[in-house]
Amino acid sequence: MTSSSAQNNDDVLFFLAANPYICNSYGTATNPCRSHWRCVMADTLTILDNRTGKKYDLPITYGTIRALDLRQIKVNDDDFGLMTYDPAFMNTALCKSKITFIDGDKGILRYRGYPIEQLAEKSSFLETSYLLLYGELPTKSQHEEWVRNITLHTMIHENIKKLMDGFHYNAHPMGMLISTVGSLSTFYTDAKDIQSPESRMKQTYRLIAKMPTLAAFAYRHSVGRPYVYPDNNLSYTANFMSMLWKMTELQYQANPVLARALDVLFILHADHEQNCSTNAMRGIGSAHVDPYSAIAGAAAALYGPLHGGANEEVLHMLDAIGAKENVPAFVKDVKEGKGRLMGFGHRVYKNYDPRARVIKRLADEVFEVTGRNPRLEIALELERIALEDEYFIKRKLYPNVDFHSGLIYQALGFPIEMFPVLFSIPRTVGWIAQWEEMLNDPEQKIARPRQIYLGSDQRDYVPISKR
Ligand code: CMC
Repeated sequence: MTSSSAQNNDDVLFFLAANPYICNSYGTATNPCRSHWRCVMADTLTILDNRTGKKYDLPITYGTIRALDLRQIKVNDDDFGLMTYDPAFMNTALCKSKITFIDGDKGILRYRGYPIEQLAEKSSFLETSYLLLYGELPTKSQHEEWVRNITLHTMIHENIKKLMDGFHYNAHPMGMLISTVGSLSTFYTDAKDIQSPESRMKQTYRLIAKMPTLAAFAYRHSVGRPYVYPDNNLSYTANFMSMLWKMTELQYQANPVLARALDVLFILHADHEQNCSTNAMRGIGSAHVDPYSAIAGAAAALYGPLHGGANEEVLHMLDAIGAKENVPAFVKDVKEGKGRLMGFGHRVYKNYDPRARVIKRLADEVFEVTGRNPRLEIALELERIALEDEYFIKRKLYPNVDFHSGLIYQALGFPIEMFPVLFSIPRTVGWIAQWEEMLNDPEQKIARPRQIYLGSDQRDYVPISKR
């Protein structure tokens, strides 16, 4: 190899590393791309089956092998073929996606290539929503039309108020949100037409516009106040704040710092690639149900304390700790397996969650308006001790998005029960973007995993008198 070709090869390697999607046929062992030096080298995996002595060459694309390629590996013709066993999808790519990129080791999060830190600083939630859904930032006129379309769909059918009224006075607002968003499918029967891009777009406007209305109505019901209708002269977050907190004034005046803080929190929560609720959205959506029913399922997954319910748990945990002096004893208990440090740890991030870093800065701006949350001192001490502790260092457990978000939500005046609801509003955009991508992906089908059956072999029914 001459030095100039080495230089060229290095360039190609660098180019491929920086643009992993640049060569679509790269790595296909049976039909390798001949244009790139690296592609000419076979990216394959050779498997030797020690049961039969047979060898198999499997293509590697994007650092993965296809699970279905393993099916050819059999001990005899009756054998079903080799499968992979991956409970909780620890090492399985469910889809190819162009929406959100996470590098968990480096603590990187990007939406459509844009770093989350830049979006949080410069964008708005609705602009970021457009980006997530369409893949590009909108032009001025596209942005205006987009905001207008969302704003025109903020009202909900009067009957939803009656549905809301049916809930017990102390019903959890997340339960009310899950039920009412699911009920939207009965109001918009055109939503069943999921093969129509126009219908999907209409449901998208409706969902993004109506989630804050449903969330605010659930809140007003839980505090026994009359519902406040949307005010379409206000921004997305200011209107939400108006529906939550307006009393007798003619127009609600949202504090601009707090409205912007809520908008940034919405940007940070808008998508997070294949998390539990998104997986639920894709899984339910793969059966071709309408998006309202699928979103009800995704929101139900988000409600869990290991997912979007964690911010609620963080506040309960801080209350249980009670004072800064009790933090070391609490951390000792966690290390002994007596519970978890909520708001810490992540399946993907093995570094500081970049969203948590933005939220920590945002908290200072919010506390300047609202005053410091008294639990902040406990949280900061907990974070300091945990980040220096061998147990957490060894397991790469860092604060996640939920660790500080609850403190801001509480300073903004939200009761703890509203926290997962606040997560659901922006995540709706991510769910829809992922749903759209799934429906348009020719490789996707109804989600239907396999199992390893370890139960009884066939046996005959025994009448109850003989058991
Ligand atoms: N406190 C104490 N120990 C922990 C924690 C924690 N928060 N999280 C993980 N560990 C330990 C765990 O006990 C295990 O230790 P060992 O190896 O000795 O058994 C090790 O770390 C690995 O944990 P894991 O449960 O196998 O990790 P996972 O990837 O399955 O779980 C997680 C991820 C987020 C569910 C978990 O870290 C957790 O329960 N965290 C607390 C809940 C939380 O904050 N959830 C919000 C996630 S971020 C928002 C979102 O995207 O939903």
